[in-house]
Amino acid sequence: MALAGLMAAGCCSNSVKPAIEKDEQVEKKVEQVLKGMTLEEKAGQLVQITSDVISTRGVLDTAKVRAVVKNWKIGSFLNVFGGVSASRAETAEMVRQIQEITMQEIGIPTIFGLDMIHGATYLSDGTFFPQEINLAATFNREYAKQLGEVMAYETRAAMVPWIFSPVMDLGRDPRWPRHWESWGEDPYLQSEMSVAETIAAQGENPNDVDLDHVAVSIKHYLAYGTPATGQDRTPGLVSPADLREKYFRPFKECFQAGALTLMANSASINGVPVHSSYEYLTQWCKNDLGWDGMVVTDWADIDNLYTREHIAADRMEAVEIGINAGVDMIMDPYEPDVCGDIVELVKAGRISKERLDDAVRRVLRLKVRLGLFENPTWSVDGYDKFACDQFRQMSYNSTVESMVLLKNEKNLLPLKKGTKILVTGPNANSMRTLNGGWSYSWQGDRADEFTQDYNTILEALRAEFGASNVNYIPGVEYVPGPDWRLDKATGIDAVQRAALSADVVIACIGENSYCETPGNINDLNLSENQKNLVRAAAKSGKPVLLVLNEGRPRILNEIEPLAAAVVDIMLPSNFGGDALAALLSGRENFSGKLPFTYSKYVNALHTYDYKVSENVQTMSGAYNYDAVMDVQWPFGAGLSYTSFEYSDFKLLNGSTFSSSDVLTFEVTVKNVGQRKGKESVLLFSSDLVASMVPDVKRLRQFTKVELEPGQSTKVTLSFPATELAFVGRDGKWRIEEGEFRFACAGESLHANCKDTNVWNTPNIE
Ligand code: BGC
Repeated sequence: MALAGLMAAGCCSNSVKPAIEKDEQVEKKVEQVLKGMTLEEKAGQLVQITSDVISTRGVLDTAKVRAVVKNWKIGSFLNVFGGVSASRAETAEMVRQIQEITMQEIGIPTIFGLDMIHGATYLSDGTFFPQEINLAATFNREYAKQLGEVMAYETRAAMVPWIFSPVMDLGRDPRWPRHWESWGEDPYLQSEMSVAETIAAQGENPNDVDLDHVAVSIKHYLAYGTPATGQDRTPGLVSPADLREKYFRPFKECFQAGALTLMANSASINGVPVHSSYEYLTQWCKNDLGWDGMVVTDWADIDNLYTREHIAADRMEAVEIGINAGVDMIMDPYEPDVCGDIVELVKAGRISKERLDDAVRRVLRLKVRLGLFENPTWSVDGYDKFACDQFRQMSYNSTVESMVLLKNEKNLLPLKKGTKILVTGPNANSMRTLNGGWSYSWQGDRADEFTQDYNTILEALRAEFGASNVNYIPGVEYVPGPDWRLDKATGIDAVQRAALSADVVIACIGENSYCETPGNINDLNLSENQKNLVRAAAKSGKPVLLVLNEGRPRILNEIEPLAAAVVDIMLPSNFGGDALAALLSGRENFSGKLPFTYSKYVNALHTYDYKVSENVQTMSGAYNYDAVMDVQWPFGAGLSYTSFEYSDFKLLNGSTFSSSDVLTFEVTVKNVGQRKGKESVLLFSSDLVASMVPDVKRLRQFTKVELEPGQSTKVTLSFPATELAFVGRDGKWRIEEGEFRFACAGESLHANCKDTNVWNTPNIE
């Protein structure tokens, strides 16, 4: 009770420039609807339940819909029916029926939300892009934009106006089972890709989202990807500076780009469950940024405040804490009667009428902005571009650019036509492993049922190199059943023997699909069976190519030296087989770069923006003192069939700048190889002396260029000097006078900032 009592209702302070501009028409409509609502109707708007409650054996049950809407005035639903994707036509029909019943019963449109994560991945016939981790590896904002556009269009085509995407958790801990859902470990990359996706998905005007666009839910706010144990939904420990600088900042950029909804982090940070934090939910987002969007909980996370986090004695207290902290919609999947708790809490004065109305306004505003009052349903007959060739081509192109060539000894790749290939490994012939979680079903375990029209790696290699040139012996296979982690050896010796009559062995190894908490592991090492498979293949004396098809970088330092070449394809989805085959034959060129650090040892998990003290040379004396960082492949690693030379790196501002300047850099990039290729140009800064221990380097800008052999181009990269600011001991942003180093590939230069500037506001404006 004490905690609940401490927290007051929140609303935006008037002096803040709103993150999303106010639209009078929208506000007028919201007030008009709000005025006529009963307390029970208001409570219903704050609750979202899952499709399981309104279906019978996976089929929509209209009697159940009517009952739940009539009794509880429920304002929102989510999830695929029966746990597996339906077609867009079937989905549209079910949502239309729910909407019609809702309009008859309460006259306020419902809002249906789906987890579209890497495309329309909860529709059986939608276009799938590679997972976010792959798109991050393209270092190409264009693909985040295309993902947003296509995903929104295809979701609207299924009568669904709301997606739970983009995922904005930083993938800074490879043990965490949602690593692959992220844009990798860097906050700037994450911010740029999420903003591009958000604007593309919602359209240019968040106050008027048209019938080709949807509302996004940026998630999972805040610092979800940092469990101290590496296990999903366990407590995170984050420094106050990192919380602001690395975790909050990208969300701020997305709010200001118009993101209409926010999903909260299921877990706790520094002992505080995010769903209970007035500071994070209300103060930072709504008050400080004047953001008038809607906060939805993650799955059952109000219940978790008492069942799991133990900061509330019962559901009633949990609801009180959550709503007073700033939750506007409770995703209480199976418990529509939570509406009754809200009613009682308001009657008892434990939730104020003002806070209730503020939350209801936020829900109504979302619905008005999406046009749901005018068009509770809409015709889905058009949408001719659904799953069209153009969308598929975008997906294929992004897949090609997402694969990362990490090693290519003696130019093993590209493989010549006619090469005799032995394909092996548990990931060689599976659409499930190419897709990963959030693909047709939550765990991705049913992908092979829906993907007959797409090629596995094996199928694509046979098409590319000729079936008679490609032999296949799996050697190790995943064990069907509930535990995705299990694999078994099914003939490793046969692989070794067959390798003798091949020119090259392609070992497709990694992980089976999983999602969220079921994806927890106790050992980041690649499975022993898979390592043995690679050892056996290498014993044949034939060159081995490792194809890593995995949601997180599994440790493989023991087998990496046995491989002549390594390609990390991560989770490339439905065009993964085709893209890989085209890259291996040289029809396409590699241009992906790792958006995370690939660690080498289980006890030494690093990120590229480490502190200097994590990697110091031996100081000889009485003791040898060192801290040696040894990673498998660094952030940004990635080879091509051509090579690029960097020169003439300059800061056009000169050798000094002030904190209010925009810094503009130039660098010449030349393709000095024999093949056309694309290159992501990454610009890093290092603050050499700062009042808080500085990160060794930070990504500040990136772009991608394409060059013919011999061609060179001058690349301009600029950003405001304020981007160099960090969050100091007092929690304020500051840029300090002094020396900075800037680096672009092998080129570097030094420049001095002339002044120190401190922002009293918690955010850089
Ligand atoms: C996940 C979210 C997802 C939600 C709704 C939760 O378990 O953490 O990412 O959006 O379920 O399906």
